[in-house]
Amino acid sequence: MNGSPERRRFDALIIGAGGGGLRAALQLAQAEASVAVVSKVFPTRSHTVAAQGGVNAALANVLPDDWRWHMYDTVKGSDWLGDQDAIEFMCQMAPRVVYELEHAGVPFSRLDDGRIYQRPFGGQSQHFGGEQAARTCAAADRTGHAILHTLYQQNIRARTQFFDEYFAVDLIKDGEGFVTGVLAFSILTGEPIVIEAKATLLATGGAGQIYRTTSNALINTGDGLAMALRAGVPLQDMEFFQFHPTGIAGRGMLITEGARGEGGYLVNSEGERFMERYAPHAKDLASRDVVSRAIYTEVKEGRGCGPNKDYVLLKLDHLGAEVIKRRLPGIRDLCLTFLGIDPIDTPIPVYPTAHYTMGGIPTNRHGQVVAPHRNTPEEVVPGLYAAGECACVSVHGANRLGGNSLLDILVFGRMAAEDMIGYIRDNPYHRPLDEDSLAAALDRLTRWEARGEGESVDALRRELQQVMEDHCGVYRTAEVMAEGVRKVRAIAERFADARLQDHSRVFNTARVEALETENLIHCALATVTCALQREESRGAHSRLDFPERDDEHWLRHSLYHLAEDRVEYKPVRTRPLTVPTIPPKPRVY
Ligand code: FUM
Repeated sequence: MNGSPERRRFDALIIGAGGGGLRAALQLAQAEASVAVVSKVFPTRSHTVAAQGGVNAALANVLPDDWRWHMYDTVKGSDWLGDQDAIEFMCQMAPRVVYELEHAGVPFSRLDDGRIYQRPFGGQSQHFGGEQAARTCAAADRTGHAILHTLYQQNIRARTQFFDEYFAVDLIKDGEGFVTGVLAFSILTGEPIVIEAKATLLATGGAGQIYRTTSNALINTGDGLAMALRAGVPLQDMEFFQFHPTGIAGRGMLITEGARGEGGYLVNSEGERFMERYAPHAKDLASRDVVSRAIYTEVKEGRGCGPNKDYVLLKLDHLGAEVIKRRLPGIRDLCLTFLGIDPIDTPIPVYPTAHYTMGGIPTNRHGQVVAPHRNTPEEVVPGLYAAGECACVSVHGANRLGGNSLLDILVFGRMAAEDMIGYIRDNPYHRPLDEDSLAAALDRLTRWEARGEGESVDALRRELQQVMEDHCGVYRTAEVMAEGVRKVRAIAERFADARLQDHSRVFNTARVEALETENLIHCALATVTCALQREESRGAHSRLDFPERDDEHWLRHSLYHLAEDRVEYKPVRTRPLTVPTIPPKPRVY
């Protein structure tokens, strides 16, 4: 680095160019704000592009529907850990954000009468737990791809300023707690840049790369989550990590729940449609945590398929070539490319894969980051927003329903932008840059220039992923997780001495990998620490030593603080905005 970094100023800064970031950027740019989007990959490579099955909204195009049924399903799916005010808001807003996308140009699949096609997805019901609903609006099985490309093009038209292939290192925060921008650097040249903004939105996605077998792209390294932690913001509900039931066995790539929505079903080595035993009513379209546990149990009890009996089969061959080619072309491509099989005639080997970070940066429904602050239980962090998978509003609670993540990014990306527009209007001047905060961020970046002797970053990352898979998976116990906490802490200590990969040839890429790995370590520590402390089973957090949900003691959100390596708790917001509370009850499908 030569001299002090270049400085640029914008009204709004968005870190992350997935659907949440781009939806927010569009809203801001259309309101005449100057907007910078920083993305470590070209925007249309962001992970939203991999979302397959669709986005939920009670449009009632295929079967009767109502946003209140959607709300009920989401609260039940969350195992009552979701905040009911935020869930009500999201479900009520869903049709509006989907129609906005339609008008922006998203090429949704169509019914014969021209309306948007909707497919059944897991955990959906009519009439508060009755018959299966069909609520997921789809563009074949490439819905995220269609949405991301449309939002990117609309942002180009609206003159959003993109910083493509820039890596965000750390937030810059002043002495009064205002977030005033970020230190980033160009992955191409290595040059650092300070981007100052009146309001900053974290929209960096999840941390699926803390696990070895995952549906997540290599880029999902929890960068925003870790930046928030280092800025003193605790992470909420990190123990709740979703395992999607149908990853390609041994590889982890996603086979959409839409495959079961279109009529596919799971069988074990005896040819039995085993979900009938675990979820007699919803069967293969039970909630994801339920289906993942069922697959795990079938394999553990010896009814797995294949030479090692370590997966089950997803049967689609009875659907017919026409349905598969029209509704599921992407997963057919995946199977042909990576397995050499055609699902038109051959069942797909599947096993649960790490898929979604339910926890994240605590926000309210306006996207404002809220955190315990100066001895007050909860306060907005001025100038800082979060939306999408890196945020925890909390609308997913202990288990997210399929199709609600695209909805989350659209609703809360938009809401965050609306609040930011008001914030920028009320705070029209940039605050002075805090030089101490900038120096700390620069130090995190430049200290890699002098390093070189310890274990390789890559080896430590792979070890971390294996530890998380072995010690914080589908089923958990105190003993196994306590060992996991010890191992992650040891990796964190060894990382302090780590050396870069192939330092001489690809310095900036290696440096990105090192910064990402540090982010993953922070996210993994939050996840396994909170998991060990929660002594109950709820949603995706299934403990063999505490098999029951315990509302009396544990109907509360966890908050993990990095600096003190400590967990505290806060209440769940059980009161919706306009409708009666949905009281907890046993969760059966
Ligand atoms: O199965 C899927 O298509 C994934 C959807 C989701 O995670 O929402």
